[in-house]
This record gives sequence, structure tokens and C-alpha cells, in this order.
Amino acid sequence: MNNYNNINVYKKDFYFHIEINRPKQLNALNQATIKEIDSCLNAFEKNNKRYFGIIISGSGEKSFVAGADITEFTQVNKKNSKKFCKKGHELYNKIENMSVPVIALVNGYALGGGCELAMACHLRIATKNATFSQPEVNLGLIPGYGGTQRLIQIIGKTKGLELMLSAEMISSSIAFDLGLVNYVLEDKKQAMDKALELINIFKRKSPIAIKNVIKSVNSFYDNGVNGFDKEIELFSECCDTNDFKEGALAFIEKRCPNFKGD
Ligand code: CAA
Repeated sequence: MNNYNNINVYKKDFYFHIEINRPKQLNALNQATIKEIDSCLNAFEKNNKRYFGIIISGSGEKSFVAGADITEFTQVNKKNSKKFCKKGHELYNKIENMSVPVIALVNGYALGGGCELAMACHLRIATKNATFSQPEVNLGLIPGYGGTQRLIQIIGKTKGLELMLSAEMISSSIAFDLGLVNYVLEDKKQAMDKALELINIFKRKSPIAIKNVIKSVNSFYDNGVNGFDKEIELFSECCDTNDFKEGALAFIEKRCPNFKGD
């Protein structure tokens, strides 16, 4: 199914796959694409069917996402730049706060807004040919879709600052060594197999517990929220679910739990 111009959306049996589809522009994110991903995620959250993960990838072999669409920069000025930035922030925050794990499948270029998109996802699976960079200083800019925050959250200030200041492009093996990606696989097919293997694992867990792990971990970065207090609150919320009763009972009865997400 696909009602979009810039993305392909595949609703599979137990997962959702969003493929950014602007190969001629190396899947650069224009405003229309940001809007489409946003509306697709809204539709996902309203869906009654249970999905256990979302995969975001770029079409073709050359690029995941080569950043924000630079051709639109001619229209960006001091007056509208905050709105421009906020649109990206809103989408990436939405991704980070989805109730199911979101996996970035990164092949080829993940630059600027593309690297930032991958970082907003919960997990990153790269192919051997993936390259990562925050090259904004080359354009007289700084990362504008959350990169200055997420890069240092993920890999720390020491290397994060160096990458943003130098605009250096790094390989997937260096990205792996820095903790920027979870796995590096040979090619797109193997990366997809790994993503599905992970989603199959999530599928056997309590959906409420999965959602609350994401919420609790994200609260670490939420200003003014005490993450330990949040953990207590979300642990307690889990204790009030049938999933929790089922999980404990299944352990005692030495069988696999049958979680229903209630
Ligand atoms: N926006 C718009 N178009 C882009 C693009 C981008 N970010 N990146 C690549 N393209 C287009 C090119 O203009 C080119 O189009 P034409 O065929 O019409 O000329 C096409 O994609 C192929 O690109 P190249 O010919 O340049 O391919 P290459 O293999 O020689 O180089 C590249 C690939 C190194 C990725 C190079 O295209 C490049 O440096 N792109 C820009 C990357 C960048 O600076 N990204 C950050 C954007 S700023 C940002 O994202 C800010 C933020 O935080 C939100």
C-alpha cells in the first residue's frame, strides 16, 4: 500500500517498513518527505493491528539519507529557520518516542539530517558501505535536526564534538567502534534479515513492557524528569497489567508466555 510520493510504506505481517524513496537526490529529505513520514507514523499509532517494530531505510544502494534537501535551503532565512528546524525536531522526537522499536537500516550515505534520522531511531543496523557524517559546518550551518544533542548522547562528547567540528565522514566499522551503530552487515539483504530477527525477538515480549522500556530510557534525556522516579512509575504500571500476570505465571508453569498487550 502506498499513498505517498516520496516514501514507500510496506505493512508486513508483524512490522512496518518505511522506505524513503528519492534515489535521484540520494534520498535527501525535503519538507514534503518529512510530512509524509510524519503522517505515516500517525497512521501507524492509530492502527488497530499489532505491529512489533518499524524499519526505516532508504531506496537504492547508494544512500540511506544524504541529509536535508539542500535545494530547499535557498528559501530558508532567519525568519522561517526555526520553523524549518522544528519540523525536523518534531518528527525525530516522534520517532524516538514511538511505542515499538524503530530500526534504521543504513546503507550508503547517512549524512546531516540522515545521520540524525538514524540516531532518532532506537537501533541502527548498517551495511559495510554505510558512511556517517554531520557535515553541516561545510554549509555554514550546525546540525539542525537534533544532531548536536543525540550524537553526544550516543557516542559521547569527545568524539561527537570532533565529528561535528571536522565534518569527517566515517565508515560503518568506525561507527560500530564508536557505538553509533548496533550491527554492521555485509549488504542490505543481510541487514534486513538482522532487523527482522530482532523484531521477531521483540514480538515474543510484552508490548507494554517494550513500550515502557523505551519511555523510561528516554526519560533520562527529559529535562526536569527524574529517570529513576520515572522507572518506578513505569515499573508499577507494568505490575498492573495482564502481561505481567501472564509473564510470571508462564515462568512458574515452565512455559512460554502468551502476551496480549493488555
Ligand atoms: N540535498 C539535495 N540534493 C542532494 C543532496 C542533498 N543533501 N545530496 C545529494 N544530492 C543530489 C545531488 O545534488 C545530485 O543531484 P544531481 O544529479 O541533480 O546533480 C545527486 O543527489 C547525486 O549527488 P552527487 O552527484 O553529489 O553524488 P556523489 O556521489 O558525487 O556525492 C555526496 C555524494 C557526498 C553525498 C554529495 O552529494 C554531498 O556531499 N551531498 C550533500 C550532503 C550534505 O551536506 N548533507 C547535509 C545537508 S544539511 C542538513 O542535513 C542539516 C540538518 O541537520 C537538517
